[in-house]
Amino acid sequence: MKTVLKLGILTVGSILLAFAGNASAEKGYVGSETCFKCHPGQYNDFIVSGHSYKLSRAKDARNRPIPLPEGYTWDDISYVIGGKYKKSRYIDNNGFIITGAKDGSELKTQFNIEDGSWSFYHKGEKKPYNCGGCHTTGYQKEGHQDGREGLIGTWAQPGITCEACHGPAGDHIRSDELAKVNKMMIVQEMQLCGECHIRGDKDKIPASGGFIKHHEQFNEALRGPHNEGNDLTCITCHDQHKSAKFKGGIKASCESCHEDVGRAFAATTHGGFGVDCIECHMPRASKSATKKGEFEGDVRTHIFRIATDADAKMFTDDGKYVAGDSVTLDFVCLHCHQNKDLKWAALYAKEIH
Ligand code: HEC
Ligand code: HEC
Ligand code: HEC
Ligand code: HEC
Ligand code: HEC
Ligand code: HEC
Ligand code: HEC
Ligand code: HEC
Repeated sequence: MKTVLKLGILTVGSILLAFAGNASAEKGYVGSETCFKCHPGQYNDFIVSGHSYKLSRAKDARNRPIPLPEGYTWDDISYVIGGKYKKSRYIDNNGFIITGAKDGSELKTQFNIEDGSWSFYHKGEKKPYNCGGCHTTGYQKEGHQDGREGLIGTWAQPGITCEACHGPAGDHIRSDELAKVNKMMIVQEMQLCGECHIRGDKDKIPASGGFIKHHEQFNEALRGPHNEGNDLTCITCHDQHKSAKFKGGIKASCESCHEDVGRAFAATTHGGFGVDCIECHMPRASKSATKKGEFEGDVRTHIFRIATDADAKMFTDDGKYVAGDSVTLDFVCLHCHQNKDLKWAALYAKEIH
């Protein structure tokens, strides 16, 4: 029997706070390594996924193949932010995110993993690390972690650990018998993931620079076809412990539910060439670190539905939000058909399979 937390009693936004607000929380968190002994399968999947990399102490990150901004050594760094799939940023010993060179001159300080380039990040600004709510476990807004001025709030563990999703395990870990009495929290609803995979108001999908902004999978999913009363949650498709990039990380294939489309698609030219459903339905319309082209960022969208009209608008006139409930053909087709245009795509898109 699992202890499944039904969200009827909690509002979105309160799950992680509920964990953090637990009076015994601080001493109750024990760290992911503790779970390995009894849950090696979940641990081995989790430890190589993005979540476990989210915020790392310099002493743990220095063994990874992450370069530092020019002129800095590991002694100047307290934490590394990210560094798994898209980008890394660096925190200095006072807890501020590094935005320039040590001597105060201009420097690109964000490392982009996919192409090895560097970008400016809030060039020259004094930038406190106020990101802990989505990047740490057992976060509390008050105080400064490690007494470092720039680190806003405190946390029990850096990064998204097992206990970020399951709550503090202090009473659970001592023996199998105690584990059975002191059950861990399990939240299956997508609001769990939505605590962090969200930006701003969940009814809007913020955009900038011609791309959807990153970390908005919850906002997008709510706009897409899978959540119009159809109750697909994040973990209907995702194995919650595994990276989406790894085999088995996506446990439900598109064809497993869309059987007819799957069959029809296999007989088309695209099907014959082995083009995957997600190349069209989840194009990289969002950008985290780098863009590969005018219509290709580096994060796949979860809107799924495609607008086949050449005049459909992806963004509102001010460019600040996604306009409709579908992805437009420029993002869908032109990252492969690079010498073609929107009008061409619209000729062929209708009833494409
Ligand atoms: C991103 C959130 C998240 C993280 C991080 C996470 N889990 Fe889970 N875990 C879940 C969810 C959600 C379920 C429930 C899945 C279901 O019921 O389909 C679950 C289920 C489980 C279960 C029940 C059996 C199973 O696999 O479904 C165990 C045991 C477990 N987690 C252990 C761990 C351990 C150990 C870690 C760290 C190594 C961990 N989890 C990290 C979200 C998470
Ligand atoms: C001493 C062994 C042991 C350790 C260490 C341990 N667990 Fe468990 N865990 C168990 C056992 C046994 C169960 C099955 C309980 C049952 O069947 O009722 C379990 C079940 C779970 C479940 C399923 C929900 C539940 O409570 O039944 C989750 C989630 C979970 N553990 C998470 C964790 C996390 C996270 C850690 C590390 C912080 C951890 N466990 C460390 C023994 C352990
Ligand atoms: C509302 C939650 C939230 C907040 C606040 C937030 N992030 Fe994130 N961040 C995410 C999520 C979720 C992802 C991964 C999904 C994505 O990028 O689409 C991410 C990804 C990242 C990555 C890329 C990680 C990698 O390994 O590639 C970096 C770096 C990052 N964030 C830095 C920051 C910094 C710096 C701040 C504060 C100024 C911040 N984030 C605030 C949720 C958040
Ligand atoms: C209908 C299935 C489905 C649902 C529902 C779903 N995802 Fe995904 N997700 C995928 C697939 C497929 C990928 C792409 C995997 C790949 O790159 O091969 C993906 C990728 C991702 C990525 C990585 C994106 C990138 O390109 O870097 C994140 C983060 C993510 N999903 C989070 C979520 C969250 C959070 C939810 C719930 C709000 C969710 N997903 C719901 C199927 C789904
Ligand atoms: C406490 C905040 C938080 C919660 C809760 C959370 N995530 Fe994440 N997630 C992040 C951040 C931050 C990243 C970026 C980490 C990185 O890649 O360095 C991320 C990255 C990811 C990725 C891309 C990296 C990879 O390993 O493939 C997927 C997929 C993902 N999350 C799915 C989920 C799902 C599914 C859930 C719910 C079961 C969930 N997340 C819950 C914050 C969170
Ligand atoms: C667990 C089952 C399930 C999975 C897995 C799934 N879908 Fe769906 N999908 C549905 C349901 C249910 C609907 C809503 C009813 C409908 O329109 O068929 C839907 C609707 C859609 C629609 C909108 C259909 C329309 O008529 O506008 C698209 C597009 C779509 N899915 C694409 C995908 C893609 C691409 C994948 C794989 C990444 C996927 N789905 C995975 C169940 C699923
Ligand atoms: C080459 C791009 C492309 C690929 C690859 C692709 N689709 Fe589509 N899909 C489209 C377009 C464009 C539409 C809209 C067609 C329309 O509205 O007439 C669509 C419509 C759909 C719909 C809703 C309408 C319908 O036909 O039921 C579903 C569901 C769907 N696709 C699922 C899938 C699945 C599952 C796969 C993989 C087996 C897939 N698609 C592969 C481009 C693609
Ligand atoms: C992942 C890459 C990819 C995407 C995305 C993609 N295509 Fe294709 N397309 C191909 C490949 C590969 C072929 C076969 C080789 C060729 O003709 O260049 C092809 C062939 C075609 C053809 C000519 C063959 C035929 O008779 O079917 C048309 C028309 C076409 N695509 C339209 C589209 C449209 C419209 C979209 C968006 C809805 C799209 N493609 C999205 C890769 C892609």
